Amino acid sequence: MMAGRPQINLGLEGVYFDESRICKVDGQKGELYYMGYPIAELAARSTYEEVCYLLLYGKLPKRTELGAFTSQLRESRQIPEGLLSLIRSMAKKAHPMDTLRTAISALPAYDKEAYDNSTAANLRKSARLISQTASITAAIGRLRQNKVYVTPDNTLGHAENFLYMLNGSRPSPKEARIMDTMMMLHAEHSSNASTFTTIAAGSTLSDMYAAVTAGIAALKGPLHGGADEAALRMVRAIGDPGNAERYIDQAIAKKQRIMGFGHRIYKTYDPRAKIIRSYLLELHNTSSKEVRRLTGIALKVEELMVSKLGKQKGIWPNVDFFSGPVYVAAGIPADLFTPLFAASRVVGWCSHMMEYWRSNRLIRPLDYYTGRLNMRYVPISKR
Ligand code: SDX
Repeated sequence: MMAGRPQINLGLEGVYFDESRICKVDGQKGELYYMGYPIAELAARSTYEEVCYLLLYGKLPKRTELGAFTSQLRESRQIPEGLLSLIRSMAKKAHPMDTLRTAISALPAYDKEAYDNSTAANLRKSARLISQTASITAAIGRLRQNKVYVTPDNTLGHAENFLYMLNGSRPSPKEARIMDTMMMLHAEHSSNASTFTTIAAGSTLSDMYAAVTAGIAALKGPLHGGADEAALRMVRAIGDPGNAERYIDQAIAKKQRIMGFGHRIYKTYDPRAKIIRSYLLELHNTSSKEVRRLTGIALKVEELMVSKLGKQKGIWPNVDFFSGPVYVAAGIPADLFTPLFAASRVVGWCSHMMEYWRSNRLIRPLDYYTGRLNMRYVPISKR
């Protein structure tokens, strides 16, 4: 008797693969919590360094703990010379995400405890990855424009130093604060595609660097982290708020995805998008003509998308839609948006990886075979 076709959840939609205490995403209410703290409260009152500590250690740090952690981060910012030449060799030829992924995968060559999978070693590696991913992203941004590599300034905070290494000048306190908040907002988001990929890679008991390399590979795609770059390119292609309706109608008619909208979990406004949107409006009067122009188009696209697809299809702005104009205001080129997303999300990947390793189970799902059976081999002369 033909066995019945099993339940198949394409894209593992709706499938719970583990339990976790790190992040709650409520897609109906549009709520997001890191270790139980609402994202709006962290964004308003915390810092990226504190959020990294929270995600790695499960609690907000005491002053002395935060001091020790930020020292660890600062000591890990300098890119090893050998790695810098690898980055130099790729920076102008490959997409920044490919250069970043390659550089991160090379880090074990510079870390004597790369293959020590103890929790203590993995916590130290997580701190190194947080710093190195930011430094490497900044270095890629400079070297690909024939600018000199800027060595880290350890008197600066994490986000501040990133902007300093990228732009070669210290950001204003407001610029640093906005970048710090953007990094917090992108730090973690439960079992999204890149976090699941990280966990799947690590579930074979490879190592933290290999697992994070896999996560970066997954984040690149425009259905996931790559949407931030794609959304800005779309806004630039629309060119003027007056063109937005025609662009959107044509895209919907062709069943094309509007970048920066929709979400597998959020069926209402992404809470992160709300915060980023508020930053964009706050920046509006003091930003460049280009940023104001991009903001005007983005707000028009949002208005049209919400009215056309928001309520009836549950397609709302996500974290990637308003990020672009904010990053443009910080001097970040479009193809560096997703590496910056990776530099922010690396702490989420490390946190989930260490949580999963505590009761590790090799990830090995099934696929339902519908192909042929018992085929007879035919020599090539008879084919
Ligand atoms: C991130 O998972 C996470 O947490 C990810 C993330 C994180 O922090 O890690 O939040 C970060 O990746 C945000 C998402 C960034 N991606 C984009 O902005 C790309 C554009 N969005 C879509 O590709 C889409 O919304 C996804 C991929 C994000 C989610 O898609 P699903 O859940 O697979 O939904 P679907 O493709 O099955 O679409 C359902 C319907 C379809 O219409 P019908 O065939 O039913 O008529 O909604 C439509 C889709 O055509 N639809 C869209 C749309 N997204 C879905 N239509 C137009 N524009 C869109 N953006």
